Amino acid sequence: MSSDQTAGTDDRTGPAAEPGTGPGIGLDSEFGTEIDCTVNDRRVYATVPDRLNLADFLRDRLGLTGTHLGCEHGVCGACTVLVDGRSVRSCLMLAVQVHGRTVTTVEGLTAGDRNADLCAAMTREHGLQCGFCTPGFLATAAELLQETVGAAGRPMGTLDERVVRECLSGNVCRCTGYTGIVRAVMQTAAMRAAQAEVT
Ligand code: FES
Ligand code: FES
Repeated sequence: MSSDQTAGTDDRTGPAAEPGTGPGIGLDSEFGTEIDCTVNDRRVYATVPDRLNLADFLRDRLGLTGTHLGCEHGVCGACTVLVDGRSVRSCLMLAVQVHGRTVTTVEGLTAGDRNADLCAAMTREHGLQCGFCTPGFLATAAELLQETVGAAGRPMGTLDERVVRECLSGNVCRCTGYTGIVRAVMQTAAMRAAQAEVT
């Protein structure tokens, strides 16, 4: 494996690693484009084939298998991740398109106590069975909650059942019937709004 056929990570806060150094994950491409991005708070550099999609890059090159692939053509939402805080279908995006951008997968969304309230509500409300769709739902819901309830100091927006159902309508679940997922998102929104009011 040549030095320009690697992907690796380094601490975002530390000095940027030079491509081809550090803990490498091999890429088989002889030809490709160098990308430098942030994935789940870690700096990532890689040389990737121009046609490699983001989902395959995350799963196969970075080992972030929490991002699931269902339909692989933009219909089911299982592959949803956040790019610069916005939900995207990673099966429809190329890895080269995240150069210079920030990617958050379900692993990053749930690291530490991040979105622990949402995960607990999903469990409590039986928002998942097989769990295949769950990473995509969590990414979509996390974006919705961030936009509506928002970060500290941001005014709370409207979040009723219609809004939640519309927002989640791009994610397909074959197990749950959606009711528990919708309840979990609404409960999380209510809890966050209540917390925002007392702080
Ligand atoms: Fe990407 Fe279904 S796998 S939308
Ligand atoms: Fe099985 Fe949603 S929990 S597809």
